[in-house]
Amino acid sequence: MAKHKLARFAENETFGNLFQHTNYDRLNVPFPLKGKWGSEYFHNDNPITVELGCGKGDYTIALAKRYPNRNFIGVDRKGARLWRGCKDALEGEMSNVAFLRINIDNIGYYFAQGEVSEIWVTFPDPQPKSERRRLVSPRFVGFYRQVLPERGGVLNLKTDSRMLYEYVRETAPVEHWEMLEDVEDVYAQGTNPLLTEVQTFYEKMWLSEGRTISYIRMKI
Ligand SMILES: C[S@@+](CC[C@H](N)C(=O)[O-])C[C@H]1O[C@@H](n2cnc3c(N)ncnc32)[C@H](O)[C@@H]1O
Repeated sequence: MAKHKLARFAENETFGNLFQHTNYDRLNVPFPLKGKWGSEYFHNDNPITVELGCGKGDYTIALAKRYPNRNFIGVDRKGARLWRGCKDALEGEMSNVAFLRINIDNIGYYFAQGEVSEIWVTFPDPQPKSERRRLVSPRFVGFYRQVLPERGGVLNLKTDSRMLYEYVRETAPVEHWEMLEDVEDVYAQGTNPLLTEVQTFYEKMWLSEGRTISYIRMKI
């Protein structure tokens, strides 16, 4: 393994804003903050937004700066990427940010029902050959429903993949997901500064290749 990755993994162990599955679901140890993120970690009862497949946590950090009265948690399974977000949050002394290194399939192990008010999925792998692995498939939405309010949980998707964008548009009416916003080309339409002013690591790559970036906001 590359030296810099090992150094990042070692530093991750020292971060107070990172929680890793190796200490909890991997060992069958109950996660102590489940149902208690507000009281025991953030020390407030502000709503919690979760970014899934957050990579380096670009949206988590940017949203947390914009909305100091909300809490944000970035989730990914790759520790070397999460290291960047953790470091930025610590250096910026951001008390409304945390990160979780877990498999998203296990999200119900880490949050109680209704503890998460909103979800962002930013530039997920489109998984053209495997619907069940898509982070916006009905299977994954089933996991999200374990942690969102029983009614009215919101999912935001930002993607460069035409296939994934069309897939969600087609799946939504079948699954009774309620479309709140559907922007086919966020940069051409430019209606929402949140979508154009915050760019993730992958988004910058896809933009440099000239890809169209789409956004969907829906109640699941
Ligand atoms: C294409 S990257 C996008 C990263 C970031 N959102 C961005 O736009 O720069 C997809 C990310 O999703 C994460 N991911 C995919 N499936 C996952 C799963 N089941 N559990 C946790 N993370 C997952 C990967 O580790 C990867 O960092």
